[in-house]
Formats: sequence, structure tokens, C-alpha cells
Amino acid sequence: IALGVLFGGASTEYAVSLSSAAAVIRELDRSKYDLTLIGITRDGRWLRYFGGEDDIRDDRWAAHPGCVTAFLSPDRSRKGLFELAGTEYRFTPLDAVFPVLHGRNGEDGTLQGLLELADLPFVGCGSLSSAVCMDKAVAKTLVEAAGVRVPAAATLTAAQWAAGERGGIDRLAYPVYVKPARSGSSIGITKAHGPAELEAGIAEALRHDDKLVVETHVEGVEIGCAVLGGTELFAGELDEIELSGGFFDHDEKYSLRTSSIHLPARIGKAKTDEARETALRVYRALGCSGYARVDLFLAADGTLYFNEVNTIPGFTPASRYPNMMRAAGLTFPDLLDRLVEEALR
Ligand code: DAL
Ligand code: MG
Repeated sequence: IALGVLFGGASTEYAVSLSSAAAVIRELDRSKYDLTLIGITRDGRWLRYFGGEDDIRDDRWAAHPGCVTAFLSPDRSRKGLFELAGTEYRFTPLDAVFPVLHGRNGEDGTLQGLLELADLPFVGCGSLSSAVCMDKAVAKTLVEAAGVRVPAAATLTAAQWAAGERGGIDRLAYPVYVKPARSGSSIGITKAHGPAELEAGIAEALRHDDKLVVETHVEGVEIGCAVLGGTELFAGELDEIELSGGFFDHDEKYSLRTSSIHLPARIGKAKTDEARETALRVYRALGCSGYARVDLFLAADGTLYFNEVNTIPGFTPASRYPNMMRAAGLTFPDLLDRLVEEALR
């Protein structure tokens, strides 16, 4: 199978993508896949890359002298990659694409739209579902309509804020989280315990997006569910994030200094079943296919709430999605095979 792997991206999660992609590339079985590696720089340049995965992980890939300008063809009669060779373009056909990109310009439906236009099979959710899951405000509305509880929240645009509107944020009980509507890895998210922190949090979130969500904190634990498939769904073992510090911010996500991840979640069989069922309902309600990680909150009183869906969850060696699948009996290479199979279905 001629498989294009996309990594990097013009996104605040560029560095996370490099780490995920290095792991994915290392684990893909070369007897099954003929890999074409395509990197996207932070400023959005597309380059075909011929080096090893360590230089991707360490962000030295783009400096390789062999890197050449390359573009995915949107032309359905020429499925693959055009790369600059001297003054000409050379064409490399592709059977499928595995986008290992997180956040904006990769996980948000834009790239998925390009791949759909090109009629190139790809791993993960389609354009609509990717876009909907990327936008925390839109995702919440749809999930709530599907009968799943969501924490009390309010949405505010930069224009509303500039005009002095507060969009209902003052009726939310503290502490609250202030989140850019479209971000990932907790970048731009702050926790506010009162009005001063709320104002500062809004300014911070608006540096990352022109729309934000303010959401009441749910006292309890965060539960993750790894889901795989389209019509027939497979759910991995649930995990649980136990926080002993402030909140699961960007540093904590990748250092796990004060929090710990329990796999399986220590919530008993009944809650595990209920959480898994809720996650599958969310997955379907948001039109997901391929795979996604559904994040929920389990409140101290036993109520489950929707948090968010990651349509390209982290795939670093320490990442939750592959770990949850491994705990359910699917090794990392088997998981990658399943994802590509789903793409080609
Ligand atoms: N957005 C990061 C990569 C995650 O959810 O795992
Ligand atoms: Mg996320």
C-alpha cells in the first residue's frame, strides 16, 4: 500500500504532531506499506522528506538537504503527490493518506476537505466531523442535542467581547475554564477562580482564536474512551486522569508531574459501561468515522458530562489513545493496520 504520512502543520500543536508522527512512522510495518513522508512546516510549507523519524521527532527534518517542495494533487485522475524535481514536477501515486496532524489546519476538516476533493482515502474522520469536533462550541451543541449532558458553558466571539457583550458568562459558577473554541493540547486554556482571572483568561484565549468557550469546572475525574471504526465500532479500555495539581494544562499533559493516568479507569463496571456507551453516542452524534478519542468528565455525584472529542488524538509513545487500545488487546502496529484498513474500506 502506497501510504502518504503527513506531519507537522501550521498549528500550535506542531511539536506534538512531530512526536506522534515519529511514533507512527516507526511502528508502521514496512512489509505492508510503502511510505511517502510529507512534512508541513509551522508556516505552512509542504515538503517531501526522505530522512528518518528521529529527525522528525527532534524537529530537524526540514533542514535535510533532500527535502523538496511537494503538493497533494486535488485532481481525482492523479491521486498522489507532485514534487518539484529541478524545473519539473515528479508524480508519486498514493493509495491512502495518514494525516498525523493535530489542531488547526490538519485536524479541523480543512485537510480532510482537500483529501475528499482528491478522492484519496485517508485515516480518520471526514471533513464535517473533523470541523465539528474541532470547534468546542459547535460540538457541545450537537452532543447536548443527542441527549448527553455538557457542563454549563457560554460562547463568546472576539467581536462580541470588543462590543462589551458578555454572552452569559456571568451566570456561570466559578471556577471556570476559558478555552479558545478551536485549539488542542490545552494551548490557550486557563482556569479562572474569579472575575480578574476570567478577564485575563479571555484575553489569553482570544490570542489563539476569535471565538472562545467559558465552561464551569466539573468536580470529579476525566475519563477517556478510544473509539475505532465506522459502522461497527470498537472501544478500547477507558482511562482516567487523576489530578492532584491545578488542571490538565499543556505542560502537565506531556510531563504528568502532578497528575496520573489510570488504565483502566477505576470507576467500576457499571460506570465503565455507561461511560463507554456515552462515548459511542457522542462519536455517532458528531459523525465520527475512522477513529477518535472521546473525553468525558465523571462528576463526583456520578453524572457523566461531555468534554471534547479529538479526531486525531496524540500518538506519542506516552499517548492515551494507543495505550487504551493496547489495554484492549490491540498492539500499536495492529492498531495502525486497522486504521488504514478503515480508511480503505
Ligand atoms: N490534542 C492532543 C494531541 C490530544 O488530544 O491528544
Ligand atoms: Mg484536544
